[in-house]
Amino acid sequence: MGRLVAIERTMTDRPVVFVTGSTSGIGRATALLFAERGYAVAVNSSRSVSEGETLAASLPDAIYVPGAIGGDADTDAMVSQVLARWGRLDVLVNNAGFTHVIPHQDLEAATVDIFREIYDVNVFGTWKLSVSAMPALRATAGNIVNVSSIAGLRPTGSSIPYASSKAALNHLTVLMAKVTGPEVRVNAVCPGLIDTTWTQDWDVIRQFVSAVAPLRRSGQPEDVAALIFALATTPYITGQCVATDGGLTLTQ
Ligand SMILES: NC(=O)c1ccc[n+]([C@@H]2O[C@H](COP(=O)([O-])OP(=O)(O)OC[C@H]3O[C@@H](n4cnc5c(N)ncnc54)[C@H](OP(=O)(O)O)[C@@H]3O)[C@@H](O)[C@H]2O)c1
Repeated sequence: MGRLVAIERTMTDRPVVFVTGSTSGIGRATALLFAERGYAVAVNSSRSVSEGETLAASLPDAIYVPGAIGGDADTDAMVSQVLARWGRLDVLVNNAGFTHVIPHQDLEAATVDIFREIYDVNVFGTWKLSVSAMPALRATAGNIVNVSSIAGLRPTGSSIPYASSKAALNHLTVLMAKVTGPEVRVNAVCPGLIDTTWTQDWDVIRQFVSAVAPLRRSGQPEDVAALIFALATTPYITGQCVATDGGLTLTQ
């Protein structure tokens, strides 16, 4: 009986993070860092189910929550799975994102359908999951960290639909932060070029960044995870969109 009580207390006392899109890249590094710092972790992805299950099984206290983040996602059910396991949610990291690479001058290629597809994940899904998670976050005085991009800060990025979706995400971050305090903080990280599967073929851009960015290198997923963790655990910051780009935006 004493042992059961001890286990129950461990389950409910441990802070809980939900990281969307966490089987790869920035999301995976974030899940690993929070786990290392003692958090229970809800791992998520849309297609890489076995990777998600394997990652969750490898962490001290984790579950895999399958599902595509988007405007039609059953985000209430996703949050319910987290609450059913731990009874609390402290941090939501909205990391799942999508793009189409389209040269900016090719205006006809950036169709409304492509805008819809990109906004569906980066903006609508992020919004919907954040709203679903808000009651649980209010209960823990928790916070949200959105994974945006320097493409939302500067006229750059893999396509105009992508860059404008990240600009929308930045403004969403600020507007949400304005109305969810004092209980819930909302911030965003804006990565520059980070070495993930997403950017594995972007060697020309990597060389450019290594040549011009003050820190003379592209970023690693762990660089972004460190900022996400810092924002999540810094009590007196909300509504901020913080670049982690080796100083690239200083040159653009
Ligand atoms: N890499 C960069 O240079 C860079 C720069 C700035 C911003 N970012 C942002 O960072 C975030 C992560 O990018 P990354 O480079 O780490 O990408 P990544 O290595 O390709 O990982 C993407 C992760 O998200 C999951 N995912 C994709 N669509 C999803 C959806 N609709 N619902 C749930 N999960 C989904 C993927 O798994 P499944 O495919 O199985 O779903 C995977 O786990 C994105 O929001 C991106 O815009 C990246």
